[in-house]
Amino acid sequence: MLNRFQLTRLRTFRRNPPAPDRVRPQGVSTRAICVASGKGGTGKSILASNLAVQRARRGERVLLVDFDAGLANAHLLLGMAPEYDLGHVVEGRVTARAALADGPHGLKLLSGGVGRQTLVDPTRRELDRLFRALRSLEDDFDLMIIDHGAGLGYSTVAHLAATSTLLLVTNHEVTALSDGYALFKRAVTVNPAIRIGLVVNRAPDARLAQAAWERFRGASQRFLGREPEFVGWVPADPAVSQSVQQREPVTLSFPNSPSAKAIQGVTEWGPIDHARTTSAFYERARRALR
Ligand SMILES: Nc1ncnc2c1ncn2[C@@H]1O[C@H](COP(=O)(O)OP(=O)(O)OP(=O)(O)O)[C@@H](O)[C@H]1O
Ligand SMILES: [Mg+2]
Repeated sequence: MLNRFQLTRLRTFRRNPPAPDRVRPQGVSTRAICVASGKGGTGKSILASNLAVQRARRGERVLLVDFDAGLANAHLLLGMAPEYDLGHVVEGRVTARAALADGPHGLKLLSGGVGRQTLVDPTRRELDRLFRALRSLEDDFDLMIIDHGAGLGYSTVAHLAATSTLLLVTNHEVTALSDGYALFKRAVTVNPAIRIGLVVNRAPDARLAQAAWERFRGASQRFLGREPEFVGWVPADPAVSQSVQQREPVTLSFPNSPSAKAIQGVTEWGPIDHARTTSAFYERARRALR
């Protein structure tokens, strides 16, 4: 069932469906949103792949960048087998454009590559090369979604410093909340203007999801004097693992399942429609590397 927060957003969205940015004025950046978490396995890739496919379905030109470099799996969740990935780009074997793969509803994926040493621990110079390559793609898209690996790796922090908008994914357990808080703290430290939305994924029920949110909010207010926005919660649902087995995002394969409905609510989070930066996203990310 959709919660109160999600229903409000859904109503707002239906009244004002966002148009694709086909006639974006010059000097206005492509929207970019990072999906990150403190702890691993919280559901970032599930959310990022569903967000990408649902936004593409609406007619937005979407680029999903799987920055879980070296341990990428977005392509599996989308039923794709890309020929090239970020590893090939960083090694200079192909251009970023040539590494793009076509996904459902016209979305493009830049895969992260599996087991590539270059990407597990990239140098600053390698990341700079990668960010420059990604910058060359940016203007062709309305929305870039960056799916990160867990935790506070160097490349994640550079993205956090550059982005206007972050989707922070946690579970209701105290370990996930505590690691999520650490990421929240780091994000607001490197980027005080950042807008952060929290998703409590895989929650057993509404009560536990609400308790997790209250706990997160309480700690962030107490220690940092600010809090994220609550985007919503997604129930633990066998439909998610079935969709993973089928290699199709749950909002496509089981659209009426409780998790798909809740994830749909997340994909309609208002700030995604305003996730612009004053200059190109990957130019800002490059500056953050220095
Ligand atoms: N709402 C849910 N209900 C049930 N299972 C879920 C739910 N969300 C995620 N999962 C399960 O958790 C697994 C991990 O999800 P996902 O790969 O999105 O996590 P992640 O945060 O991207 O992990 P990593 O940190 O390794 O990148 C999925 O394969 C899926 O089986
Ligand atoms: Mg992932």
